[in-house]
Amino acid sequence: MKKLNLIIAILFMLGFGWSCSSGDSNSSEQPAQQAANNGLSQWELENGIGPVKAKMTLNAVDSELAASGEKIFDMKCMACHKMAERYIGPALGDVMQRRTPEFVMNMMLNPDEMVKKHPEVQKMLATYMVPMTFQNVSEEDGRALLEFIRANQK
Ligand code: HEC
Repeated sequence: MKKLNLIIAILFMLGFGWSCSSGDSNSSEQPAQQAANNGLSQWELENGIGPVKAKMTLNAVDSELAASGEKIFDMKCMACHKMAERYIGPALGDVMQRRTPEFVMNMMLNPDEMVKKHPEVQKMLATYMVPMTFQNVSEEDGRALLEFIRANQK
């Protein structure tokens, strides 16, 4: 019986140790800092949370892709966003100065989780008082929207 207890104790310690060390990519950050960042990694803080998990390679603006992005923007985004000025949501004419392309993509593709977890989006929510809603944007449409936004930076 004693032996069994000992085995259980060892298994428990191994399990505990493993679950601690197998943490996410930000396990090197201080716990307090992690809590302040809602447990997000440095990468997620800079690039958002969502399907885009790697740096994108962007070339000069593709005007054809931007034109198809504009059509989607008119249908799904224009109700809340303008380029030049604040509307229901922030102006997007300078968003590429504030955010990485990956952040912009993840915001379009995964706004619910961004609003819930990302500290920068929570700051915006406190300002705009409306959560950006899910617009059912595919990655392909998101890429076109990004091109339209890039084509219209001031
Ligand atoms: C219901 C209104 C609404 C719609 C529709 C909407 N947004 Fe938003 N958007 C917001 C609000 C409000 C914010 C600020 C964050 C928040 O409060 O959730 C925001 C934030 C953003 C941001 C981040 C801006 C920054 O400065 O970081 C981007 C990029 C964005 N929206 C793009 C889009 C695109 C592209 C579409 C269309 C697919 C869209 N939004 C549709 C309301 C909306």
